[in-house]
Amino acid sequence: MPTPDEMKRAAAEASLKHVKSGMVLGLGTGSTARHVLEGLARLVAGGTDLRGVPTSLATAEAAKLLGIPLTSLEEHPELDLAIDGADEVDPALNLIKGMGGALFREKVVASASKRFVVVVDESKLVPRLGTRTPVPVEVHPFGWRTALAPLRALGGVPELRRRDGETLRTDNGNYILDARFPPIRSPAKLAAAISAIPVVVEHGLFVGLADLVLAGTAKGVRTLRPTRRT
Ligand code: A5P
Repeated sequence: MPTPDEMKRAAAEASLKHVKSGMVLGLGTGSTARHVLEGLARLVAGGTDLRGVPTSLATAEAAKLLGIPLTSLEEHPELDLAIDGADEVDPALNLIKGMGGALFREKVVASASKRFVVVVDESKLVPRLGTRTPVPVEVHPFGWRTALAPLRALGGVPELRRRDGETLRTDNGNYILDARFPPIRSPAKLAAAISAIPVVVEHGLFVGLADLVLAGTAKGVRTLRPTRRT
């Protein structure tokens, strides 16, 4: 039985066949995306011409150390392909992302890409979003508390994310509210309602963005394509 990390690695390796020389890529954040970076570094070392736009400062640092050339959305506002992990995937390939705190840049990069490929281990596949994880909501520090009542009114239980005893700051200097919801019936409706809260910068519901999910399982890598969108 492969370990979860081996399943993540297998999914990451499978994503590399979608990478072609000359592409400008979105580089994801997290432990699964880290395996993708290692694979991309191998391709670059072998002569493949690639450039990447990182979705976090941590990914930028890792990519530099691995020798992956970096660029920006300033230079390339349209990307060929983004590859990233996720915290939950539903049958329609809607996602929850952001337990690593990088959801804002991840969503901007995924939205700017012609194709978005998601790499996960099988533990991330859920019947409904909200089954395992809260929805991370990035809020501006000015007035962040004003998001609490609207999130509660939507049925969520928001909690300010902390790390090492301090309020966590994202790469963008914002806070994150982790809002736990009962299993989510309509991710699109909830996404729109959360986006409408003025202090919200972005949230971790990725609705209709994933083109393909590669899921590492005990029996190998499953390829999932969107069925129905909610
Ligand atoms: C980062 O903000 C997240 O969206 C990650 O992509 C997500 O948390 C998956 O991370 P792992 O691959 O480490 O599980």
